[in-house]
Amino acid sequence: MAPRVDLVIFGASGDLAQRKILPSLKRLASPDGMELRIIGAGRTAQSTAHFRDIVKKRSGSQRLAATAVWARIDYKSQTTFAGLKKLLVGAAHVIFYMATPPETSGDIIHTLGQSKLTTKGDPTRRIVVEKPLGHDVESARKLNAQLAKTFEEQQTFRIDHYLAKDTVQNILAFRFSNSLFEPVWNRNLVETIQITVAENEGIGKRAGYYDQNGAVRDIIQNHMLQLLALVTMEPPTTFDAEYVRRAKRAALRAMSPISPSNAVRGQYIGYLDEEAVANDSRRETYAAVRLSMENWRWDGVPIFLRTGKALQRRVTEVVIKLRDAPHLRIGGNRQRGVPSLIVIRIQPDEGITIRIGAKRPGTRFEMVPAGMRLDYKALTKAPLPDAYENVLSEVLAGGHSAFPGAEEIELQWEIVDPLLKSWEAEGHPEPYTRGSWGPQAADDLVAASGGGRWIVSGDEPGTD
Ligand code: NDP
Ligand code: BG6
Repeated sequence: MAPRVDLVIFGASGDLAQRKILPSLKRLASPDGMELRIIGAGRTAQSTAHFRDIVKKRSGSQRLAATAVWARIDYKSQTTFAGLKKLLVGAAHVIFYMATPPETSGDIIHTLGQSKLTTKGDPTRRIVVEKPLGHDVESARKLNAQLAKTFEEQQTFRIDHYLAKDTVQNILAFRFSNSLFEPVWNRNLVETIQITVAENEGIGKRAGYYDQNGAVRDIIQNHMLQLLALVTMEPPTTFDAEYVRRAKRAALRAMSPISPSNAVRGQYIGYLDEEAVANDSRRETYAAVRLSMENWRWDGVPIFLRTGKALQRRVTEVVIKLRDAPHLRIGGNRQRGVPSLIVIRIQPDEGITIRIGAKRPGTRFEMVPAGMRLDYKALTKAPLPDAYENVLSEVLAGGHSAFPGAEEIELQWEIVDPLLKSWEAEGHPEPYTRGSWGPQAADDLVAASGGGRWIVSGDEPGTD
């Protein structure tokens, strides 16, 4: 018989489990040579039959539904965890997935250890931890210490679902498997780096979480700094997770903490009217920051990150702007060339565009922006896997390349903490209109730093 893998989802009655985890299991229902069984666990009183209906509906897999089990537990109670332990007898591997609010993490980790559902160092027992991974440096260190009491780092999988996006994983392939790009990928030829993570939706019904966190904690501290680390890190010795993590840590260590004078915070007009948002909330729904890296490769290159809710459209992309050609004289006049851009589009319309200048066909010598584009979806006939599908298949395989390590998380908090502390102490976000690109001050931040202006493809001729 195939070895059984039990996936225990704590908080399986919740939003994340229903919307992301269960649907992504469909194609993993029979991972190579293993038999996957789902155990939903939580305080909710429901029968296994009812849970099976949910699994069927959400995952679309009759096979998974047929073996799924519901375990009613209390996150603090060793007695209820003893019942769970009995269910796990015979499993070759057990994955504990914490799909619960962060305040429950400490209890779950503690009770798992106390009830001997896992022992430290046992490679057949793994834990998956969802964001937020802390609220600041101190709480992140505390969470890491709690985890380290019960689990080795090899047993621990911290989710940053951006790392599991195919196009994000392609950044490494693009940079390090093409010798064309590495020679330009440094301060000699790169003028600025910009990363945009824009969303057109507001916060919806997530005020409970969002109003405590805001744009910096929600996106910059994790997804954007991970993206930036992948874009700026040195080539890893191999693509094994430990070498990639080592290279990312070195990049994160080189990033200077963000100063409030290099940051803009915004709040979309109408945020205060959202359900469950305090009417005097100062929480930012938009943030734009400038940071720099103190290392040989990137010294002096301004780096800009911006993210926000309720912006003009949903787009995540990295723009590497190259320096102008040193000399362009056409006829009797010195001319500005068309700035060369390397645009890595994470979503939607995943792909890479190289924007260059070309001569407009015709009798005059005139420069126009032109593009060379790789359409990522054209590389496969299959649909791109969902990030959660990648996350879960890597946990099942025991790989770590789609997961940030403990130290990365703490380094990321160190970069944003001074800014967050300053914003908490004083000041207000600048209002911006829904459907805009955010506050004008963010444009000024880029212009004042000699970075030109924010660039997003589609708005730039030759990049759509
Ligand atoms: P929910 O609020 O839906 O909670 C999930 C489940 O946790 C609940 O159904 C509940 O199940 C259990 N639970 C245990 N303690 C509490 C408590 N004190 N308050 C409320 N529920 C509790 O959360 P989500 O599913 O939205 O998120 C789960 C985790 O995933 C969080 O850490 C979140 O930050 C993270 N996350 C969520 C995303 C999303 O899109 N929803 C995206 C990215 C991360 P029961 O009553 O049966 O115990
Ligand atoms: C989550 C944030 O981590 O990422 C959300 O909590 C955000 O606020 C989401 O909407 C964006 O993810 P994606 O994959 O849609 O870009």
